[in-house]
Amino acid sequence: MAYRKRIAVLSGAGVSAESGLLTYRDNGGLWDNYNPMDVASDKAWKQNPGLVLDFYNTQREKLQGIRPNDAHRLLASLEERFNVDIVTQNVDNLHERAGSTRVLHLHGEVTKIRPENSCNEADGFSENLVVDCGYSKVVLGDLAPNGAQYRPHIVFFGEPVPKIERAIDIFSAADIVLIVGTSLSVYPAAGLYRYACPKAPIYIIDPADIPVHDSRIIHIREKATTGMAAFLEMVQ
Ligand code: APR
Repeated sequence: MAYRKRIAVLSGAGVSAESGLLTYRDNGGLWDNYNPMDVASDKAWKQNPGLVLDFYNTQREKLQGIRPNDAHRLLASLEERFNVDIVTQNVDNLHERAGSTRVLHLHGEVTKIRPENSCNEADGFSENLVVDCGYSKVVLGDLAPNGAQYRPHIVFFGEPVPKIERAIDIFSAADIVLIVGTSLSVYPAAGLYRYACPKAPIYIIDPADIPVHDSRIIHIREKATTGMAAFLEMVQ
């Protein structure tokens, strides 16, 4: 088979916006209604785990009735022509449900839980301790077989990002970088594109201004669905 170029994708909440999920920092976004330090940080988990569990129960419930949109499907269709790795900041499962086969969740997955004392192993978590709880609620007192309280399988603010090394490898090997639907405001995710080789074009799909300036950037100023259709025409 002829060599298929490697595309490294970094996706953010904007790619799920047209499925009906809120982004974090747009007007009316999630962080307009919650302070992330109260519901999504390691300190919050220590001080008020019940509030954190409630927040993620709400986010998990919102996923019910939500379906992938054309942007997710067009991203999955890239695999017909390219070697695609999606590094997503999203904790929803819409990339997988649209058919993408290589998805790395940098910030965790809202449909999964793990014992709060699960050890940090080479790839970040002993995956066999992670349980796919689908859309069910998790409350204080829901304990894992090892007796520990279940917690969301989410990287809280203040915690290390266990899969960042793997994500850096993906971007270091990329022939093409595609960034879709992220404000690039959270590191280390926002810095990943810098690992791509100097010759790799960097396409950014976002209807808003983008905070980065690099001669390699091609800004497709569209929402994700129309931007992805344009990208498919452009990329080769
Ligand atoms: N199509 C494409 N992009 C869109 C759309 C759309 N329909 N609607 C909004 N956007 C863009 C916004 O312009 C913005 O640049 O999506 C981006 C959303 O940015 P954020 O809300 O900051 O979300 P994200 O970048 O994914 O946040 C990163 O922050 O709170 C943490 O862990 C959380 O993973 C999250 C991280």
